[in-house]
Amino acid sequence: MATQAFQALLQTCKHVVVLTGAGVSAESGVPTFRGSGGLWRTWNATDLATPGAFVRDPSLVWEFYNYRRELVQRCRPNPAHLALAAFERKVTEDGRRFTLITQNIDGLHAAAGSRNVVLLHGSLWDVCRADRHGMKASKPCENRKQPLVPALEGKGAPDPATMAADIPREALPRDDKGHLLRPGVVWFGENLDPDVLSRAQQAVDDADLFITVGTSSVVYPAAGFVSQVAARGVPCAEVNLESSGATASCKYTFQGRAGEILPDLLEVSNV
Ligand code: OAD
Repeated sequence: MATQAFQALLQTCKHVVVLTGAGVSAESGVPTFRGSGGLWRTWNATDLATPGAFVRDPSLVWEFYNYRRELVQRCRPNPAHLALAAFERKVTEDGRRFTLITQNIDGLHAAAGSRNVVLLHGSLWDVCRADRHGMKASKPCENRKQPLVPALEGKGAPDPATMAADIPREALPRDDKGHLLRPGVVWFGENLDPDVLSRAQQAVDDADLFITVGTSSVVYPAAGFVSQVAARGVPCAEVNLESSGATASCKYTFQGRAGEILPDLLEVSNV
């Protein structure tokens, strides 16, 4: 019944906004941040994704990102990504609006064919200059070369017994003027790009149907979107393996794997 009621809303809504997190890419083989799979060597992924970690040990942070780039390069969009892209095509062909806000940096939504995507936390394929505090000192730009420098070749194995590579600074990724580069993603302790945040917020304010998929909903500002939408009386739905910080705000909850639920739920399994 809940499914039918939700699907009726999908037919009539004017602007559907979908927020995704790491869970949407889990079935593609990209590890999530929390729960099992969140560790790299002995570190939590979240300990290395900070400007402070980069200042202390840029070689270690680059090893970690080299590993992630290597891994994600081999991953393909799964049925959840493909269903969202097919649903966007269907909605936009009807002259309605669709916005996908993702916290993921893996690029798998674009690879699946999604078009109107807001990359809240940036892209794993971007690099930028780092200042002496490890903060961004230039606008991130794409560099898909892998590895980025010869010194990173084969570096970043996640096994806890792996010795740190301790790559000298001069052999780490640098721009053409010799400035040290860092990953162009948003780290803990950093603000989101204001233009990106404003695009996301506009969609959140305009949504008349909101779906959150595969996010634990603990990292702000994304974690606050669903309650903002729900507070306007707009129906919200969640697709997740388990309950999350968003569940209480959602009228519709669909528990299970996103790749199994979304194609049928969005009625795009035959598209
Ligand atoms: P988390 O790792 O915190 O949460 C993943 C969520 O996906 C959990 O709620 C799981 O239950 C759910 N999940 C796992 N597999 C799933 C599947 N196959 N189908 C459906 N749901 C599934 O990841 P995020 O919420 O994305 O930020 O994390 C938010 C942010 O915290 C990340 O973007 C990153 C991280 O620190 C930065 O790096 C700034």
